[in-house]
Amino acid sequence: MNDPMSTVDQLRDAALLELRSIDDAERLEQWRVAHLGRGSALNQLLTGIGKLAAEQRKGLGQAINLAKNRLQAGFEERQALVKAALRAASFASERVDVSLPGRPLAVGRLHPITQVIEECLRILQSMGFQVVETVEVEEDYYNFEVLNIPAEHPARDMWDTLYVQPPNVLLRTHTTAYQGRMMQQMRPPIRVVNVGRNYRFEAVDATHEWMFHQIDGFAVDEGLTLADLKGTLTAFAQQIFWPNVRTRFRCDYFPFVEPGVDMSISCHACDGRGGDCAVCRGAGWLEILGAGMVHPRVLRAGGLDPERYSGFAWGMGPERIAMIKYDIQDIRLFYGNDTRFLEQFA
Ligand code: FA5
Repeated sequence: MNDPMSTVDQLRDAALLELRSIDDAERLEQWRVAHLGRGSALNQLLTGIGKLAAEQRKGLGQAINLAKNRLQAGFEERQALVKAALRAASFASERVDVSLPGRPLAVGRLHPITQVIEECLRILQSMGFQVVETVEVEEDYYNFEVLNIPAEHPARDMWDTLYVQPPNVLLRTHTTAYQGRMMQQMRPPIRVVNVGRNYRFEAVDATHEWMFHQIDGFAVDEGLTLADLKGTLTAFAQQIFWPNVRTRFRCDYFPFVEPGVDMSISCHACDGRGGDCAVCRGAGWLEILGAGMVHPRVLRAGGLDPERYSGFAWGMGPERIAMIKYDIQDIRLFYGNDTRFLEQFA
């Protein structure tokens, strides 16, 4: 059998040699278990001391402990080196090169329809209209009944919608639904605009969405006439579109106005000449809203005396206004969530 003293020296030297090549924490831990752990060769030697002859035993325990201390010191030294190297590597990978050009932050912007709505409201507010927002989930009474559209009236077919529970509650089909609520709260002179989303059971195409916005306005006072309606809406069109825009009013039917009209603006592409213009399809005019003098029955339902007061009202779609202003051919682009489209509206 080998001299146990020289075995201790060999084990120590071999372990220290192996330690020198270790440069990661995992292998270092394996080394610690192999050379300093309970099952290590040095420990086995220590536990076997009792079986050795007396002259072999002499000084061996101390030598093993010295060797173990040396290995422990070597381990701690190496551990400090490995940790320092790890820290240096992570610093290097996290280093910021301050000379690199900055990365621009993506800046959000308002949706084009929000922008158009804000522009419309700014103009109408400057004309003295107060802006209100009312409920989107509305009672049948305000969406239809108060507006002179009783149950079973054929005019209901003009605005088919989505009904919800409880009965007689629906997603409003037009922002005009606020008129009754306003007349119950306000006394003339009234000048209000209501803005928000509307919902219709609609066949979606390039000019019709099932969800769209409206800006609805109405004014009630003594002595208001159709001339006030035309003047107000023409002044509005000249500001929202272009200063020399011309307006045209033709008879139209809405159950809550009498008379009812629709308003068109002269086509910007052909300046109203029509012909083979693709924008207005030869009409020379682009229809933008429905309007009229508030029906006496609506005034009465709102608690106002139609012998004393008269009013005008209109409802228009900001999506359609935006399509004309920005020459957009398909309304569905607004709600398609394609940022390449939306980013064009700074
Ligand atoms: C109405 O909704 C009436 N409440 C307007 C009104 C108010 C008339 C007050 C008289 C007095 P109409 O269904 O035509 O009318 O809609 C008015 C505007 O809303 C249209 O000119 C259009 O710009 C927009 N609009 C209507 N339906 C849609 C749709 N499916 N998609 C996008 N815009 C629409």
